[in-house]
Amino acid sequence: MTTSPTSVPTPLALSIGGSVLTQGNDDAGYIGKLADLLHRLGATRPLVVTTGGGRTAREYIRIGHDLGLTEIELDEIGIDITRLHARILAARLGPPTPARPPATIAEAVSEVHRCSPVVLGGTEPGHTTDGVAALLAVRLRAERLVNATRVDGLYERDPAVDPTARRLDRIGFEAFQKLVHEKSPDRPGQEFVFDRLGADALTRARIPMAIVNGRDLPNLEAALLGREFRGTIVG
Ligand code: UTP
Repeated sequence: MTTSPTSVPTPLALSIGGSVLTQGNDDAGYIGKLADLLHRLGATRPLVVTTGGGRTAREYIRIGHDLGLTEIELDEIGIDITRLHARILAARLGPPTPARPPATIAEAVSEVHRCSPVVLGGTEPGHTTDGVAALLAVRLRAERLVNATRVDGLYERDPAVDPTARRLDRIGFEAFQKLVHEKSPDRPGQEFVFDRLGADALTRARIPMAIVNGRDLPNLEAALLGREFRGTIVG
C-alpha cells in the first residue's frame, strides 16, 4: 500500500455499475459479499464507492422520456435510482458507513476520512456515477479508480459484434480519452464503459483506472489493491 508523506493511507475510489449490482441473479448474495469486502478494505484506508442505476434507471428514464420530461428531470430520476442502490449497499455495510448517501462530492470527501467506506450515487444532472467516482478520485488524490462493470475489460472492438475482438490489457490516458469521446452519447442513460467527464478528469490528474468485471470479487479485490488482475489498466 502506498502512503502519503504524513503516513495516512492513500484513498481508493470504486465505481460499481448498476448492472453489476442488480442482474436478477443472486443479487442479495452478491451485494452481501461485496459489502464484506468493502467493509474490510474501507477499514484500512479511505474508500469511496459510487453505485450506478443500471437497467432500473434506464427503465424509468425511458418512461419519463415517453412522457416528454426534460433531460434535467430524467437525470434527476436517474440520480434517485443510483441513490437507491447506494442506500441498499450502505444499509448492508452498516456503521461506520453513513446510511444516507452523501449528495455532493464535498460531503463525500469530508465523510470518507471519518466513516470509510462511504457509498453514494449521482450528484449533478448531466453526469454519471462513473464521472462522480472520477471526480472523487481526483479530489481525494486517490491511488487509483476501479471501474467495476459487467464486462471483463475494454475490448479493441465490441465483442458482441465481433467475437474475435481482443481485450486490451492496457491503454494510455489519451487513447482512452479519445475513445470515450467517440463512443459516449451525451444524453441520459448512456451505455459506454465510461463517460467523458470521468475520462477527462482522470487524464488531467493522471490517476490510473482499472476496468474489471465487478461480479468476480477476488479479481475486484486484486484490482483495488493494485495486484495483478484480469481486466484493463487505463494510464
Ligand atoms: P449511471 O451512472 O448509472 O449511468 O446513472 P450508466 O452509465 O447508465 O451506468 P450503469 O448502467 O449503472 O453502469 C444513471 C443515470 O442517472 C443520471 C444520468 O441520467 C445517468 O444516465 N445521473 C447519474 C446524473 O444525471 N448525474 C449523476 O451524477 C449520476
